[in-house]
Parts: sequence; C-alpha cells; structure tokens
Amino acid sequence: MTGLATLPRVSLVAAPTPLQPASRLSAVIGTQVWFKRDDLTGFGLGGNKVRVLEYLLGDALGQGCDCLVTGAGPQSNWAMLAALAARRCGLDPYLEFYGSPAEAVGNLLLVELAGAQIHYTGELDRASVDDAMVKRAAELSAAGRRPYLVPRGGATPLGAAGYVAASLELADQLSLLGVRPRQLWLATGSCGTQAGLLAGGQAVSADYDVVGVSVSRPVEECVARIVTLRDGVSALLGLPVGAGADVTVLGGYLGPGYGQPSPQGEEAARLVARTEGVFLDPVFGAKAMACLLDAAAAGRLAGPVVFLVSGGAPTLFAGPRGSM
Ligand SMILES: Cc1ncc(COP(=O)(O)O)c(C=O)c1O
Repeated sequence: MTGLATLPRVSLVAAPTPLQPASRLSAVIGTQVWFKRDDLTGFGLGGNKVRVLEYLLGDALGQGCDCLVTGAGPQSNWAMLAALAARRCGLDPYLEFYGSPAEAVGNLLLVELAGAQIHYTGELDRASVDDAMVKRAAELSAAGRRPYLVPRGGATPLGAAGYVAASLELADQLSLLGVRPRQLWLATGSCGTQAGLLAGGQAVSADYDVVGVSVSRPVEECVARIVTLRDGVSALLGLPVGAGADVTVLGGYLGPGYGQPSPQGEEAARLVARTEGVFLDPVFGAKAMACLLDAAAAGRLAGPVVFLVSGGAPTLFAGPRGSM
C-alpha cells in the first residue's frame, strides 16, 4: 500500500511472525483457532508494540530527535520496548512512571538494564504521567535536546500504522493457507492495535470482524478512542476515513483491575500453555483468551478465528501485580 510505503520506518520486526494452527486448543473448545504469534516479533522479548515502534522511531529519526520521552506504569511492556527501540536507534530513553519506585522485576528490571532515565510521578493515577511527559520534554528542549514525545501505549495514528502493516502480512499468510477467519481477536488497552487492525482490515478487504477485549478502559471509552485512531491512521495512509464495520469491544474481563491477573485469565493461560505450549501474559492475552473461551463455551464463537498473541512475556515474571 503506497501510503504505508512512504512513511519513514526503522526495521525492528522479524516479519512475518508465524501464523500457527492451535489444533489442540481448537479440539478442546470445538472451534478452529489460529495464533498470530506477535509475541515473536523478534525485538526485545517480542510483543505487539515492536510493530508500532517501527513507525514512531522512523518519524523520530526523520525529525532529527536525540531522545524519546514516554510514560506508563513500571511494568509497562510499551515503556520497556520504547526504551529499547530508542536505544537501538541511538536515542536516549526518558520514562515517566506513575506510582513510586518498585522492585526491579519484570519490565522494570529490563528498563533499568537499558539505562532509561526513570522518573516517578508519585501518584497512582495512570493519567498523571501525561503532564509529567510534557514537562520532561520541555525541560529537555530547554537544555538543547531534541525530544520525541509519545503518548502512553504509542497510541497515535502513526503508531497504528504498525498494525495496518500487520494486516497486510496476515492477509498474505491467510491467502497462502487458504484460511478465511470469521473473527480476529485481541486484547485492547490503549487501543492503537485494534485501530490499526481495523484500518488494515479495510485496506485488504478482510471479511473477518476484529474483536477487542478491553483489559483496561471502559468499553465506551475504547470504542471512541479506536474510532479516532482508526480514522486518523486511515487519513494518514489515504484510506477511506470512517469506513468499515462497527467497532467491537467486549468488556467484563478486567478482573480485579488493569495490570492485575484475574482468576479466569490465569485459567485460560494454563489451558493454552498446556494445550499449545504458548504463554499468554496475565495482563492482556490471558484475559482476552478468557473471553474467547467463554464465547466458545456459550456457542457464540464461529470459527475459524485468529487470536493475536500480543506478547507481554516480562510480566510473567513480575509477581502478582503484573503491570502496575
Ligand atoms: C502484550 C500486550 N498486548 C496487548 C496490548 C494492547 O495494545 P494496545 O495498547 O494497542 O491496545 C498491549 C499494550 O501495551 C500489550 O503490551
């Protein structure tokens, strides 16, 4: 797609990531499931945000930036991968975290290893990092640096281009295999991934529905964010704006809260590990899979379906509060 090809991009993803039949899981639940293995994107410990960072870092380098500023929680997969991608491109990473200094396990261990400059807002409110990022970028500019500021999750129209590219990749794989999925399932947080998959699905005339399971925000907030991001990336790439099917986001699988494992998610992750030998992270993938399993059990899942395994491996080692 021309619009995509003209965007500056750095190469981080070992593409294509595998598309694998989850045969044993499919036999258990009675619906054919395929895994799109974006836990194997091939940079850091993998994950969906590597695709997003290809376009964001391409833009940062194009603008001559020398450092990257973003914000999240100490166990954020996004922040860790952003810091690592910044390093790969020769930019210094600056991270604003909500909360206060925590034990260096999981992603926090990895951002420390990458030598990111970390500052804590001291507030539990996740949005507290938004102002802190702007302040940090202003300070860096005043000191003569050229910061590249990215909102939480890399959820911008440009970042969503990563999942438009992934949709093209998936379309090629599906056509080679002769598989026509009815649905593409994923965990939705900051919403950029689902927005990119919707715009990308439209670009390749996909006949699957994209089904997001919210693991973070209320469903209505997700839908509004996805529409804005989808239309933003569509405009950026010269695709029809506002086109495509309705936005589907399912709720009810947050469990005790964002970043905290849920009993249902843990059970779903155990089933997937024991049938497929694949690890789902407790914060995103496990909860989305719990929702998919319930849909299958209720007879509401018509296959074949593709499930995006989106990464998050570091939070498997972050203790009971996976992403806080
Ligand atoms: C492992 C994993 N899966 C899914 C998501 C959700 O992606 P998005 O924030 O684009 O909705 C994230 C977000 O950080 C993630 O780290």
